[in-house]
Amino acid sequence: MSKNAETVAAQIKDAVGADPVSVGLILGSGLGHIAEAVDGIAIAYDNLPGFPHAGVSGHNPKLVIGDLEGVRVAVFGGRSHYYESGRADAMRLPLEVLKELGADTMIATNAAGSMRPDMPTGSIMCLSDHINFSGLNPLIGEPTDARFVPMKDAYDPEIRDALHQAAKDADIDMPNGVYAWYSGPSFETPAEIRAIAMLGADAVGMSTVPEVILARFLGLKAAAISTITNMAAGLSDESISHEHTKARAPIGAAKLEKVLRGFLRTKS
Ligand code: HPA
Repeated sequence: MSKNAETVAAQIKDAVGADPVSVGLILGSGLGHIAEAVDGIAIAYDNLPGFPHAGVSGHNPKLVIGDLEGVRVAVFGGRSHYYESGRADAMRLPLEVLKELGADTMIATNAAGSMRPDMPTGSIMCLSDHINFSGLNPLIGEPTDARFVPMKDAYDPEIRDALHQAAKDADIDMPNGVYAWYSGPSFETPAEIRAIAMLGADAVGMSTVPEVILARFLGLKAAAISTITNMAAGLSDESISHEHTKARAPIGAAKLEKVLRGFLRTKS
C-alpha cells in the first residue's frame, strides 16, 4: 500500500472515526444523489491529498463515509476517467484508501449505452464480464508480479448472486451483460458499436473497467451495475450527448439504488 494511501486513510479516520468501512460505492454520471442517502460525513476530494480532480459535470467529487442500510460504506461521489487525465490509474489512490479503510468490496456504477433491445433507456444491467477495448490498463508501470491479475470471475459471482436476489425482491429486471470500455471522451461510431456487439458486448461506456482491474489488484471483491441512458450509436434515432446521459441516468438510478440497498441489507 502506498504511503500516501496510509496518510489519507489516517486523515479520513481522524475525521469520521476508525470504524472499518465494509463496502465502497463508486457513483457514475447522474447517480450522485445516492451519496445524499448516506448518514455520514462528507469530505471534498480537494481536501484529500492526491485524490483526482474528477471534474466531469454530473459528478460530485466528494467522499461520503457513513451508514446505508446498516452497513458502513464509503461513497465516491465522483470518479476520474482516463479521458480526463490520460491516466488509466487515476482511481488507484482512492481505491487504495478504500482498502486501507477496511473495505472488502467495491461496487462501481456507471451510465452506459445499450446494444440490446431488451435493455432500453432506463433499465439497469449487472456486469458479468467486460471487454477492455481501450488497449489501456491501470497496472501498466506497476513493477511487482502482483500486476498479473487474473480476471476470470473479476465480477464476484457471490456478490452478483446477492445483487440479483435484491433485484428480484424489489421486482426489478436486471439482466447480466458484458460491458465494453471505450476510452472516450468522444462517443463511439456506429461501426465501432456494430464491431463490439459482434464480439459479445451488451453495453458500452467510458469507465469502470480500470476500477475493476485495480480493485482485483488490491484484493477487493468487485461488482458493477450500469444504468442505461441511451441505445448505443446507430441503434436508434435518439441523440447521444453528455447532457442526455445526465438527464437520463436518474431514470435507472432509482432502480439501482433499490438494488444496492437490498444488497447492503444482506450484509448488515
Ligand atoms: N457510450 C459511451 N459511454 C456512455 C454512453 C454511450 O453510448 N452512454 C452513457 N455513457
